[in-house]
Amino acid sequence: MGQDNKAIEVSGITKKFGSIVAVNNVSFDVIEDEIFGFLGPNGAGKTTLVRILTTLVKPTSGAARVAGYDVVKESDAVRHHIGVVPQAMTSDLDLTGYENMDIYGRFYSVAAKERKERIKYLLETVGLTARAHDLVATYSGGMRRRLEIARVLVHRPGILFLDEPTIGLDPQSRHVVWDFLRKLREEFTMTVFLTTHYMEEAETLSGRVAIIDSGKIIALGSPSELKSQIPGNDIVSLTADKLSENIIDTIKNQNYVHKIVIENTTIRVYVDNGAQHLPQLIDEIRLSGGKILSAAIHEQSLEDVFIHHTGKSIREEEVRKVSYLVGAGTPQKWGR
Ligand SMILES: Nc1ncnc2c1ncn2[C@@H]1O[C@H](COP(=O)(O)OP(=O)(O)OP(=O)(O)O)[C@@H](O)[C@H]1O
Ligand SMILES: [Mg+2]
Repeated sequence: MGQDNKAIEVSGITKKFGSIVAVNNVSFDVIEDEIFGFLGPNGAGKTTLVRILTTLVKPTSGAARVAGYDVVKESDAVRHHIGVVPQAMTSDLDLTGYENMDIYGRFYSVAAKERKERIKYLLETVGLTARAHDLVATYSGGMRRRLEIARVLVHRPGILFLDEPTIGLDPQSRHVVWDFLRKLREEFTMTVFLTTHYMEEAETLSGRVAIIDSGKIIALGSPSELKSQIPGNDIVSLTADKLSENIIDTIKNQNYVHKIVIENTTIRVYVDNGAQHLPQLIDEIRLSGGKILSAAIHEQSLEDVFIHHTGKSIREEEVRKVSYLVGAGTPQKWGR
């Protein structure tokens, strides 16, 4: 590996599709052995960047190195060092889980004895031993996703790319995949580059997160660093029957209120110590003639970081459905 401890170096990458700028002058480094999360809404440019870094698409301009190798000029060397789990599932439904893994291992010339040992171990790790010899067609979505992540590890890549690893999974399966990824990290040394539009996923798995919107990185840091950039430490969401100037001014004028964002009849109030100040805030609103229908306090999350920087929310469910239909995933078929 070349450059010190950088697993991935991205400098000024831009990708245009006609007039669409899918990735717009993006630069960042991923350090060896970290889990780096790439968080952004539908169409933000996540998959396009993954495809550039995994040598499937050439950038319009800029350069990137993966495992020390240039993704355009040394694409074979890059492929040799990476594992990729694309957004759309690619395992063969007409084969068993074991067979899918075995073919993958042969493809990467993993010797028979090692292949067998690794597959056994990996199937055990993902909890699929009992189903190893069943057709993948009989697996649930979560099982199939776990199989695909396990499969890519048969050739022990140093850098793993996961494009939306839990898209389309129910919350329970999602947690199973998260636990598995954490377990993997304890047992293997590897760098993970993961894209997601689930805040919780980025937050729970990643050491550092880049937030991307419309092809641009709008924030980068550890989840706690990112959250410390937003004013206050809690968000109070208030729903009012109607919002008058009076109510809004009253809220803004409280000295513990840092910022407010209004979405329809809901007001998001960025405050210090929400639990302490909420009763007072509601009293003040009542005095100014307003009526609060509901109030909720939550600690700041990456969703709030996204809203802070873009003024809009990622809207997880909507995004999930759309992405599931249009997910740009290309089966990884490359020779050696
Ligand atoms: N092959 C292509 N031809 C034309 N436009 C493309 C192509 N691939 C991607 N795009 C466009 O580039 C933009 C970024 O798409 P991309 O798939 O990278 O987003 P994403 O962040 O992965 O979104 P999702 O959450 O839906 O997976 C979108 O506007 C998309 O329509
Ligand atoms: Mg995508």
